[in-house]
Amino acid sequence: MSFEEMWRALLPVGRDAATGGYHRFAWTPPELECRAWFADEARRRGMPLEHDRNGNMIAWWYPEDGTRDRAVLTGSHLDSVPGGGAFDGPLGIVSAFAAVDLLRERGAALRRPIGIAAFAEEEGARFGVACLGSRLLAGAIDPARARALTDGDGRTFAEVLHGAGLDPDAIGPDDDLLGRVGCYVELHVEQGRALAEPVGVASSIVPHGRWRFGFAGEGNHAGTTALADRRDPMIPFAGMVLAARDAAERNGTVATVGKVRVVPGGVNAIASSVTAWLDARGPADAAVRRTVDEVGAAAREAARPHRVTVEVAEESYTEIVDFNLALRDRLVRTLGGAPVLPTGAGHDAGVLSARLPTAMLFVRNPTGVSHAPAEHAETADCLAGVEALAAVLDDLARG
Ligand code: GLV
Ligand code: MN
Ligand code: MN
Ligand code: MN
Repeated sequence: MSFEEMWRALLPVGRDAATGGYHRFAWTPPELECRAWFADEARRRGMPLEHDRNGNMIAWWYPEDGTRDRAVLTGSHLDSVPGGGAFDGPLGIVSAFAAVDLLRERGAALRRPIGIAAFAEEEGARFGVACLGSRLLAGAIDPARARALTDGDGRTFAEVLHGAGLDPDAIGPDDDLLGRVGCYVELHVEQGRALAEPVGVASSIVPHGRWRFGFAGEGNHAGTTALADRRDPMIPFAGMVLAARDAAERNGTVATVGKVRVVPGGVNAIASSVTAWLDARGPADAAVRRTVDEVGAAAREAARPHRVTVEVAEESYTEIVDFNLALRDRLVRTLGGAPVLPTGAGHDAGVLSARLPTAMLFVRNPTGVSHAPAEHAETADCLAGVEALAAVLDDLARG
């Protein structure tokens, strides 16, 4: 199967015909179809498939001498955000299989195993915590907290794992698996317009996090309730959205309210509660923290005259990630030079960098759009990405 054939096979899975956006949430039917595709691609190549205890999958190519450690791990994720693009995640996995094919055609002699990983729930679109599979693997989230996370239908992560044939009590840091891996290199579509050449190398991921704002008021009739009698949580919620924009401008950060839940959600009913999620990112921890504090203060101030209560909870936070300098330089050398750029997007590579030398390759995105249907990469650039990944894996797996 060539890169293009693999890409075409995945393309219809979970795609909304009307919008072109993808809905591949962890362990829902479209994502399970992507996982089955992954297992088929591994089987087709005779690559043993490992299911780790955190819902991640790895397809292995072992050297002939039976070496099982110091592996070079690559891969990405198969899940998507709601209405996401085709490339965010799958590009890294399809490229990894295509790179393995190239290396085999060229008779590469491995001294270290190469593993292709598909990490679970990278987007956090179902359970709210991004990079959940790699966080569990790396010990970056308390397993008890992970087990209790719920999806939009109130199903716990533990229940969903159990339904997928995994033991929820076994999730958590996996030093056996990490101990077999020497480094991780993830290829990913670039998610802004920062890359002018087909392939680049990541320097860092900016600090970023998610906060849940709960506004509690009183549900009531939209026609019979006088303005003075209302406790309408929509009003401070609206203030919070505007405050996020202002705080981001003041602090040189970015802040987004992209998800909101209004209860009960009737046209003719004052809401009883509103839950809104703030995503904030910026060049430095202090600026991001200040942004969130200012939005929280503005929300409370907007809530007071309406007798609405506000609760703010941090759902996840990732400090600045500087990718391993020696590995990054090695990638640049292997590619004969490449632009080096930071990113505002989170990745499993960022989480794993606390435990392993990690690096990333980016493939140019001419639209500069991501987490939306217009996300794009030209086939020629994707193939350049495959060549670059093959060169990097070859170099690392020989050493
Ligand atoms: C994930 O892709 C994120 O950056 O939110
Ligand atoms: Mn993403
Ligand atoms: Mn991604
Ligand atoms: Mn991501």
